[in-house]
Amino acid sequence: MPTLSAVTLPDHLDQEKLTGSIAVVIDVLRATTTIAQALQHGARCIIPVASIDSARMIAHKRQSALLCGERGGIKPEGFTLGNSPAEYTQQAVGGRDLVLTTTNGTRAMHMCDAAYEVLTGSITNLGALVNELSTRDQHIVLVCSGTDRKVSLEDAIAAGLIAQALQSTHTPDDSATLLRDAALGAIQSHGSLELAIASSFHAARLNDLGFGADVRFASQRSCCPIVPRFDPATGEITGIEQPQKTLG
Ligand code: MLT
Repeated sequence: MPTLSAVTLPDHLDQEKLTGSIAVVIDVLRATTTIAQALQHGARCIIPVASIDSARMIAHKRQSALLCGERGGIKPEGFTLGNSPAEYTQQAVGGRDLVLTTTNGTRAMHMCDAAYEVLTGSITNLGALVNELSTRDQHIVLVCSGTDRKVSLEDAIAAGLIAQALQSTHTPDDSATLLRDAALGAIQSHGSLELAIASSFHAARLNDLGFGADVRFASQRSCCPIVPRFDPATGEITGIEQPQKTLG
């Protein structure tokens, strides 16, 4: 069986191991939740960019692209959309190219450029992602984005739930087993997945900024059938649509 490993921060990635592997970038609050939502609502593609300046330049050159993202959780001046999944409605993003820069998530994606394939994961597309991954025979690396280079509980929980769901198709190494057990423990001790995610420091920060609804949205399991796929050659994220499957 192919193997499954995990890192709690992209800075811990072993670039050699990444070659030939599928990297799954996870930024539950909020980049990868927002990306899945944007594609579900008809965005043509998303171009993840590490810096605000590059995002402005790319959006300027790309006709009718929307400039999207955040710094410190807040939409930068002149941007059309911030990083709230709720902003990415069909009306706002249908048929459009989105140039997206976020503090941690888009940086993590570019740190996985060497991988055989880069997919993105969140709680909302967990079922679709697991359906997709369970058919693959490559080694999988779950890459938690973290927040400002600190480990984020919500990303670790999502990685742990993916590890649990892939048990029959991919052999977890100790890093994946650790996150699986931590995720199940956190959910049990808080009483629910939603409460476990709400207990994270990033959720508290988003609450303070008035984005509590985003935290609740991002905690909904498997409501989105899209698996975003980043192609470093084109620089675009597009969606693979999966029939939904409820996880146990
Ligand atoms: C990030 O990529 O840093 C996050 O999505 C930040 C956020 O908007 O909460």
